[in-house]
Parts: sequence; structure tokens; C-alpha cells
Amino acid sequence: MIYNTLAHYYDALVKDDQATSAWYDWIHTVKIGSSILELACGSGEITRRLAQDGVHIDALDLSEEMIAEAKQKQDSQSIHYFTGNMLDLKECGQYEAILCLCDSINYILDPDDLIHLFREVDAHLSDSGYFLFDTHSLDRLEEFQEEFNETGEFEDGVQYQWSIMAEDDFIYQDFAFYKLDGTIQQEHHIQRVYEPTWLHEQLERFFTIVDIRTDFDQEGIQSGEKYFYIVQKKGKEQ
Ligand SMILES: C[S@@+](CC[C@H](N)C(=O)[O-])C[C@H]1O[C@@H](n2cnc3c(N)ncnc32)[C@H](O)[C@@H]1O
Repeated sequence: MIYNTLAHYYDALVKDDQATSAWYDWIHTVKIGSSILELACGSGEITRRLAQDGVHIDALDLSEEMIAEAKQKQDSQSIHYFTGNMLDLKECGQYEAILCLCDSINYILDPDDLIHLFREVDAHLSDSGYFLFDTHSLDRLEEFQEEFNETGEFEDGVQYQWSIMAEDDFIYQDFAFYKLDGTIQQEHHIQRVYEPTWLHEQLERFFTIVDIRTDFDQEGIQSGEKYFYIVQKKGKEQ
């Protein structure tokens, strides 16, 4: 399983209030409306920021531990958090916007599953609703040809090792947590990086592409870390 031990330390590793504001601003470049579904919401940092505007948010994540972390945060009572797989949205209703943020979509490893996800999202968007997501860029595959390694210690004294490497279309992340009782907990994550031209073709089967940018501020596919997509449900006449 992934994001079980990591769930507890996720914010300590990656939480960044400035980045949360950048996400918030990017999301609000379109009118997202007042009913939102967030897929793979993680520890709910962006979710909470969006909820402060009084919008209704249903937020799911595959990891029970991530959902538990999100639920225990201040101001989370108005958000409907639940454990669920973004590939199975049959319990979900209709939304004016569906979000999938911070390279969560790269956890979908099978291209057919990704197409299935787009079909599910389309089915759960109300007329003209928006789907916003981001992916790792192709440059990340280049960057992690050389292994990245980080070690450190959390406030509770648990030490960790985090390594990232890439091969072919895949990014592999390994986490080791050295608990104070002498046990070691490990997680092995795999993400797939999709080629933008292929991705655009698949998106266009379901949606109208509204905006694609790199790292929030560059238009189109450029050098950078992440590609950001805003697509819209096609009108009935299309
Ligand atoms: C990099 S974290 C991003 C979390 C959050 N979106 C954020 O902004 O910080 C990726 C998240 O994707 C979730 N995830 C991976 N595969 C999933 C799936 N099939 N369905 C739902 N969540 C999934 C993980 O549990 C994890 O919380």
C-alpha cells in the first residue's frame, strides 16, 4: 500500500503555503462554480483553501490514512471527505468542477484506465463543467535519470530516506521510515508520465481543451516540472 506511513509525514515533507496559493489562483482562472469533486485530495491542503469560499466539496482519496489526516484539520467539517478510488465514481453525483491535483493522475499506470477516468469525469460533470488536473512533465523523466536522494528527521525523531528515479515512462519513488522502536516502514510508488500529444488526443474525445500551461505561468507545453490542464465538458450539440 502507498500513502499509509507517508500520510502521517506528507505535510512535513511537501506542504507549501505559497504553492497552495498558486494552485488556488490557477483553479480560479475559470469559474469553478459551487459544487466540486476533488479526486486524490491527499491531506486536503488545497481542499481546505477552496472550502473557505463556502463551496461544497466532496473529496476522495484511495488512502484511508490520507483521509484521516485531512479530516483532523481545522475547518475540515464542511468538506465531505471519503475513501475511494478515482477510477470508480459511481457513488458520486454531478459537479460543476472536478479536480485532480499535484501529479495524482500519474498514479494511473494503465492508459486504458486513464481513458476510463476521463469517461467517468465526463459523466459526473454538469453541463459546461470543468476538469482541472496536472501531470508530471517529460522533463521530470530526464531529471530523474539521475537518482534524487533526500534524508532527514521529522519532529518526532523518525528518520527517513526518500529516493526518486526514472526509467522509460515511469517515475519510481522509494520511502523508508526508521521508527523509534527499530522497525523500518517502506513504500514504493510508481507513477507514469504520459506523452502530451497522446494525452491531448484522449482528452479531446471527451472535452474541449480550454488551457494548457507549464508550471502555472508558461503557456502550452514548455520546459518545466508540471503541465496544467483545464478542459471543459463538451456542449450537447458537439
Ligand atoms: C502526490 S499526492 C497529492 C495529494 C493532493 N492532491 C495534494 O494536492 O497534495 C497523490 C495522492 O493520490 C492518491 N491516489 C493515488 N491513486 C489514487 C486512486 N486510484 N484513487 C484515489 N486516490 C489516489 C494518493 O493516495 C495520494 O493521496
